[in-house]
Amino acid sequence: MQYDAIILGAGAAGLFCAATAGQRGPRVLLIDHNPEPGRKILISGGGRCNFTNLHTAPDRFLSANPHFAKSALARFTPQQFLDLIEAHGIAWHEKTLGQLFCDGSARQVVDLLLEECAKGQVELRFGQDVGAIEHRDGRFHLAGASAPALVIATGGPSIPKLGATGFAYDLARQFGLKVVEPRPALVPLTLGGDDVLFRELSGVAAPVEAICDKARFREAALFTHRGLSGPAILQVSSYWKRGSPVEIDFCPDAPHGWLTQAKRAAPRKALRSTLAEHLPDRLAQALAERLGLAGELSGLTDKALNAAEQRLARWAFMPNGSEGFAKAEVTAGGISTAELSSQTMEANKVPGLYAIGEAVDVTGWLGGYNFQWAWASARAAGMAI
Ligand code: FDA
Repeated sequence: MQYDAIILGAGAAGLFCAATAGQRGPRVLLIDHNPEPGRKILISGGGRCNFTNLHTAPDRFLSANPHFAKSALARFTPQQFLDLIEAHGIAWHEKTLGQLFCDGSARQVVDLLLEECAKGQVELRFGQDVGAIEHRDGRFHLAGASAPALVIATGGPSIPKLGATGFAYDLARQFGLKVVEPRPALVPLTLGGDDVLFRELSGVAAPVEAICDKARFREAALFTHRGLSGPAILQVSSYWKRGSPVEIDFCPDAPHGWLTQAKRAAPRKALRSTLAEHLPDRLAQALAERLGLAGELSGLTDKALNAAEQRLARWAFMPNGSEGFAKAEVTAGGISTAELSSQTMEANKVPGLYAIGEAVDVTGWLGGYNFQWAWASARAAGMAI
């Protein structure tokens, strides 16, 4: 069977690319080894799919080349995807920080994408293994089909139980494209050593500022039985490197000198109760214990309180790892952007070969940015093939 384009992977990027290309005229085949499309979409955003973020900007993406994503993101904006959502009559809401979710179910987004594919007469083959791929006579041959264009949209290996694989990287290497070492991102971090004591706080969450290198995120952190999670931690995990600390400001809204002021205002209070005005009780207790400052505030020197304030503002945790690809919401790294055109996502040295979505070394923050990259990169390739 001859096609104009074959797209591998019916996730967010592959479905949108197939629809975009198909509606322009080319004959498109979309293949996925899973029996159903868009499994990650279906479980995304707690089942409501955080399908984009209004604050999308290139600095919210990690990549060896921070400029690469600019062109595609500028040419397909969150508003354009929102227009599509509205055109399909899908009710939505902004939850927080520009994050847009379906009111109903993530299934609506998959249905939207399938309807758009149908408009483009895209041929769908689900539950189909791709098998070997050959490139000869200017065409890509696979699974009894051939086409002059092949799009790699098979994502990254995070959450293998959903059918995620590192197939994109194998394919990239087959065609001589470099791959930036893939690593789990948006992933809970694990604690060892002295930090293990914090595991007793499993289930406690607090609004904090998490800091890793130059990245800072003000959101909730959650203590777990293995270490740290919650949005603030998932965000910094994408920047975290083994051997470096993650710092937490437990009282990011407290003014400078707040503990000594608290002593003047209520000298008979204990540090633990003062902290509990900002933090959950159990956490306040654990921090006061670790600071080693018991008794009334009046019995503590200003020097000790200022030192405690500084420590609370940059509490250093030394994660000993992450929960890995099994729990990572995305994979950072991937097919090197140096190999691709930022305009079309086509491989510079293999005309007709494209890579889009999470398979590429572009990784968004938590909050709808990864889907926006999937839509934008898919659009760029879909308009070019
Ligand atoms: P995606 O992984 O979606 O699709 C790849 C497809 O390729 C899959 O259908 C897979 O079956 C197929 N495939 C893989 N290997 C293959 C092979 N060897 N042969 C054939 N097919 C193969 N992002 C966001 O912006 N908002 C959110 O709310 C969430 N929520 C969220 C929750 C959870 C639990 C996870 C794991 C992830 C998110 N994400 C997210 C991230 C988001 O889901 C992700 O970035 C996109 O789905 C990436 O889209 P792609 O199409 O690139 O890959």
